[in-house]
Amino acid sequence: MKFTRKAIAGISALALMTGLAACGGSSRGTNAASGGTEASANASDTLIGISMPTKSLERWNKDGANLESQLEKLGYKVSLQYADNKPNQQVDQIQNMANDGAKVVIVGSIDGTAVGPAVEAAKSNGATIIAYDRLIMNTDAVDYYATFDLAEVGKLQGQYIADALGLEDGATGPFNIELMTGSPDDNNARYFFEGAWSILGPYFESGVLQSPSGKVPSSVDDWQSIGILSWDQKKAQDEMENRLNSFYTGDTKLDAVLAPNDALALGTVNAIEAKGWDYMPVITGQDCDKANVANIVAGKQSMDVFKDTRKLADAVATMTDQIVKGETVETDSSYNNGTKDVPTKLLTPITITKDNVQEELVDTGYISAEDAGL
Ligand code: BGC
Repeated sequence: MKFTRKAIAGISALALMTGLAACGGSSRGTNAASGGTEASANASDTLIGISMPTKSLERWNKDGANLESQLEKLGYKVSLQYADNKPNQQVDQIQNMANDGAKVVIVGSIDGTAVGPAVEAAKSNGATIIAYDRLIMNTDAVDYYATFDLAEVGKLQGQYIADALGLEDGATGPFNIELMTGSPDDNNARYFFEGAWSILGPYFESGVLQSPSGKVPSSVDDWQSIGILSWDQKKAQDEMENRLNSFYTGDTKLDAVLAPNDALALGTVNAIEAKGWDYMPVITGQDCDKANVANIVAGKQSMDVFKDTRKLADAVATMTDQIVKGETVETDSSYNNGTKDVPTKLLTPITITKDNVQEELVDTGYISAEDAGL
């Protein structure tokens, strides 16, 4: 569940976390920076640690590079590290950043729960912790969170499928759709599915949508039953190949695939191309990685959800600067991590199709026309 709240300015953020919620509207909030140093702190002496999950996915490389350059522009010393999708490696890296005296540690977690003890140790060493894109779960050591509206990502995917199949116009199908969710250890993946399911679930209930594979969670809480570990492209491809070979023989047509991110969309496209069909189903995605944008332009992937990593990096660089200077930190929402409501800066994702690749991605310099296949 996501809660919005009015956050309160002027007192230590940690002291604030209980009791003062004023739910019921998304309002701009401010929180005094915990762990803030003197306003006169010399930025070049201030170390900021950034721990990113993996280099294997394009988006995290962009996230890390954007954040590093924003913080360096502000004059900070930055230690940017990637943990190869290995939770233990990430724990070690965070502990080292804390030992090196990092004032702020920014974590794009691999396993949102496993990283808890490491951020607790960093916090007791004096660091302020920002969860980047993925929330850190079940600990009160996380001070701030910045992300794109998670359920909205899934809603955009679900809505695209509903529109493409004409569901709201009364099409009765039944349409065949295959669902996947993201990595079972990534808290984001649940929200993505929750958003998509809020649109698609009612059509499963009425029988307009069906999954020949039977791989449909019994409820949102059961989302991990169709999760793809580590958001791994190859695992997604294997999963889709199995489903296609077992359930899509003869005349059975696949109408749509809910692929929650671009890695899973690429795996899906590979599996479908191997079947040699003369059509492509509706396929969703998230991140606007180059290969996927090129697939959209080529008609192999239908849509993508764009989360502009430049905006997220800007927001987190601003938060970091506010924390170090002891200024109030602007947040506008909050997410509950099982232990507390974490003050959150929330950004808005948008749908990308063939029609707005040029305007949203190329004209803004996110991707070159050549990479987009334009
Ligand atoms: C991020 C997505 C990303 C996925 C795999 C999620 O937590 O929000 O943007 O595609 O992880 O790295």
